[in-house]
Amino acid sequence: WPRTSSRTEGALTVGGVDVRDLAGEYGTPLYVLDEADVRSRMRDYATAFAGSEVHYAGKAFLCKEIVRWLAEEGLGLDVASGGELAVALSVGFPAERITFHGNNKSVAELTRALEAGVGHVVVDSYAEIDRLGRLAAEHGARPKVMIRVTTGVEAHTHEFIATAHDDQKFGLSLNTGAAAEAVRRILALPQLELVGLHSHIGSQIVDTAGFEVAARRLAALLVEIKDEHGVVLPELDLGGGYGIAYVEGDEAPDIKELADGLREIVSHVCADAGLPVPRLTVEPGRTIVGPGGITLYEVGTVKDVEGLRAYVSVDGGMSDNVRTALYGAEYTAVLAGRESAAEPMLSRLVGKHCESGDMIVRDLHLPADIAPGDLVAVAATGAYCRSLASNYNYLPKPAVVAVSGGKARVIVAGETEDDLLRGQI
Ligand code: LLP
Repeated sequence: WPRTSSRTEGALTVGGVDVRDLAGEYGTPLYVLDEADVRSRMRDYATAFAGSEVHYAGKAFLCKEIVRWLAEEGLGLDVASGGELAVALSVGFPAERITFHGNNKSVAELTRALEAGVGHVVVDSYAEIDRLGRLAAEHGARPKVMIRVTTGVEAHTHEFIATAHDDQKFGLSLNTGAAAEAVRRILALPQLELVGLHSHIGSQIVDTAGFEVAARRLAALLVEIKDEHGVVLPELDLGGGYGIAYVEGDEAPDIKELADGLREIVSHVCADAGLPVPRLTVEPGRTIVGPGGITLYEVGTVKDVEGLRAYVSVDGGMSDNVRTALYGAEYTAVLAGRESAAEPMLSRLVGKHCESGDMIVRDLHLPADIAPGDLVAVAATGAYCRSLASNYNYLPKPAVVAVSGGKARVIVAGETEDDLLRGQI
């Protein structure tokens, strides 16, 4: 739950605002973001990684207001599309603090990145090295590039979000020699400035051992590059992927320990080989915005499936949070608008979409007197919920409201029926 959440008069409050007031004012479903929580996590990272760069991974949740918070807290930004880049540039975020990612950036996207002068482009394929080389020459630009290296580390997470094994679409493999070949190709192009290596092993990873192995392998590759080419690359980008707690008992890595561990490993490998310590960058997304977000829903129906469980249906579902359906993600939900002394009842929190996989929380206990009109809050929905939202069944995407100091304000407006019909003949 968000750092500022508590119960007052039986109802959940976040940022000093009662969820009943939020639902009354803005309707449901509603994404609620605790500004103090998110900003404090940005600061925690900046402190733990002092001397390194922290680039927030915008894919977790991006909007203009988040970009302003990043600018104010001194973080950088990782974008993975021209659209994400456009959000950042629209509020004047400094382009040199942006890293551009993606396994299939288009010519238009790369051109936009060059024109804006983004700080780094992380190249992901030979084809992209050629493409970026050609565009850079055309534009008279000399972008700083990093190579996305597939380190072969086994990340213990869902298959769809594990990215360091060889048999997936991202990166250039360390094992097969593709990463070393990419180094050769980039060094042969004077219009590209190779400054470092990048790795991202996956997401929602709790065991930090994998990050350390990846960091060691990247640092070792820096040493090999020095030996083979006489070139000292000054930067390593270690990606993101640090896990958060979604349900009771979940563990989450300690950011300070993680930072110290990564720094130590890289320093060691480089010092042993007589190399200067490279500047490190990390790219946390989920850990910054995830815990500070909740989703508020209103219960519409409660169906007791005799002998099995109660199905509690709310007014959103897989269109505003697809993670349960997509990854089998686990969440915590509570009755939020009032306290109840009723017996806990085995339940499943489901949405209103036309498929049975439309679940938000697969197994949970809710008070037996839960009824239509009750408010339910789901915890830790700040990351990868709004950003993965869809209009399935023509549901409008809910608004995002930031709460702080007893006040709420809309930072992303909810969609309307007009929005849904726009552009159709
Ligand atoms: N850097 C790169 C290059 C990435 O691909 C990602 C995430 C991150 C940083 C940030 O990872 P984080 O710290 O947020 O774990 N939709 C999935 C997560 C996909 C993550 C994709 N890349 C989910 O809902 O779990």
